Amino acid sequence: MTQTTQQTPPYIPADTMEVLLSHEQIHKRIAEIGAQITKDYAGESIVLVGVLKGAAIFLSDLARQIKVDATFDFVAVSSYGKGTRSSGAVKLIKDLDNSIEGKNIIIVEDILDTGLTLNFLRKLMLQHHPKTMRIATFLDKPSRRIQQIEADYVCFSIPNHFVIGYGMDYAERYRNVDDVRLMPEDPHA
Ligand code: PRP
Repeated sequence: MTQTTQQTPPYIPADTMEVLLSHEQIHKRIAEIGAQITKDYAGESIVLVGVLKGAAIFLSDLARQIKVDATFDFVAVSSYGKGTRSSGAVKLIKDLDNSIEGKNIIIVEDILDTGLTLNFLRKLMLQHHPKTMRIATFLDKPSRRIQQIEADYVCFSIPNHFVIGYGMDYAERYRNVDDVRLMPEDPHA
């Protein structure tokens, strides 16, 4: 009997890929965004809501540049292929651990692409009646937008390249790469 198994693509070493954003550029920009958030929320408390898995690295670095009272929570949404997701079918697979009612929340994402994920999460979070809600994204690809949404804090706006590193994956790999690099072939092309 033949079993169908999903093929794992061959590993392409990240250091053979072109760097789009260097470690130094990333950390300089995150320090600026962290300072802006610190200023905007002076005297307040905030909940940073990370969207697993991609945002984990950005949240970790951003949080350490924020100098106000902050706590973390995490959500996860279903990760369909982008083709499937453009149907609008985003599902929550891990909910918040704690109530956000009456709290200042910042949803933290690694990338804002079609906007479907953040539109879904924005509506969901608003049902919990936070005091305020903003969005911070490491990358923004405005040319890919299907549903209108803007982030309040954007580290970098980039053209429609398929990128990996700094939390972003291809077939779950490369999240640990310490800069943002261009995949040699765009898997979405
Ligand atoms: C990425 C990213 C966002 C979403 C953005 O998640 O982390 O959640 O895509 O895309 P959209 O604007 O088109 O909805 P992905 O599905 O790759 O999961 P991951 O975070 O686990 O890598």
